[in-house]
Amino acid sequence: MTVLFLMLCYYGINMTKQIFMTRRITSRAEEMLRAAGYEVTVSKKNGVLTRDELKTALAEQSYDAVVSLLTDTIDADVISVMPGSVKIIANYAVGFNNIDVSAAHTRGMVVTNTPEVLTSTVAEHTVALILTLASRIAEGDRYIREGKFVGWDPLLLLGTDIKGKTLGLVGAGRIGSEVAGILHRGFGMNVIYCDVNKNEALEAVCDAKYYATHEQVLREADVVSIHVPLLPTTHHLINAGRLSMMKKSAILVNTSRGSVVDEAALVNALAEKTIRGAALDVFEFEPKVNEALLEIPNVVVNPHLASATEETRTKMAEMVATNIIETLEGRNAPNAVA
Ligand code: GLV
Ligand code: GLV
Repeated sequence: MTVLFLMLCYYGINMTKQIFMTRRITSRAEEMLRAAGYEVTVSKKNGVLTRDELKTALAEQSYDAVVSLLTDTIDADVISVMPGSVKIIANYAVGFNNIDVSAAHTRGMVVTNTPEVLTSTVAEHTVALILTLASRIAEGDRYIREGKFVGWDPLLLLGTDIKGKTLGLVGAGRIGSEVAGILHRGFGMNVIYCDVNKNEALEAVCDAKYYATHEQVLREADVVSIHVPLLPTTHHLINAGRLSMMKKSAILVNTSRGSVVDEAALVNALAEKTIRGAALDVFEFEPKVNEALLEIPNVVVNPHLASATEETRTKMAEMVATNIIETLEGRNAPNAVA
């Protein structure tokens, strides 16, 4: 009798699929996962888990799925302590450089991301950063808050137009193309780009010109916008040498990953005024922001917010839940990464 009861409990518990979330995200994911009959455990910390905290938390139960954030480093070491029951790591981001995908695949785990749903939001944010920098909006805002505004001044905070100027894309995937579309249609910008793939749709829609090297893009662009994933080949892609190729009047915008830019080299270029300014949503040593950057007035900084709208974060949560449900029900995850 007792044995039978224990067996029923054991199999009963095991039949309920267990999901671990490293941090609370938009409620839609939890709602969908609970509606599918799963049990969802959210880390109680409500902050970024350290490696040790992450390892401890992951080993606590026979989880079937893990929801991770871009701030969780899911490398081979962390993957090695995950229970064998984990079938999917669903990253709440389009970028998945925080996950060692091949180590996950070796353990038979699917890795998914959240592409497409955030493309237009990130593109809007990128354009907002470009306009903020070109029109010196953040500087003007600080100026008033600091009580410096004593009357209209013909020479105060002169910005730069972007209409008719040249946008240089470093990376022309979904997000880069969307940025180009907005700036070409809305601001008449000429578009040039460099990417591992030629983008014929971008060329057709924006009359964009492809260059085989980043150098050509950097030399010609008035606005350089970075839209590559972080890979070994894109780490410090924008280094001192490449920054020195940019026009003195050009601005650099980064909404991709901080380490694509050598931040120390960027500080030098800005301090020596070899470029006009920079707008950054991401940082090399996030959440640490290079102090020297903050001393430079023509720098706009944002705490990694490019996809942060209510609508998009909800769609990303839906995508995470859908990928988990499809995987745990034995179907293919729609957003599995290779
Ligand atoms: C945000 O940076 C993302 O990759 O979704
Ligand atoms: C990311 O989704 C990109 O392709 O830019």
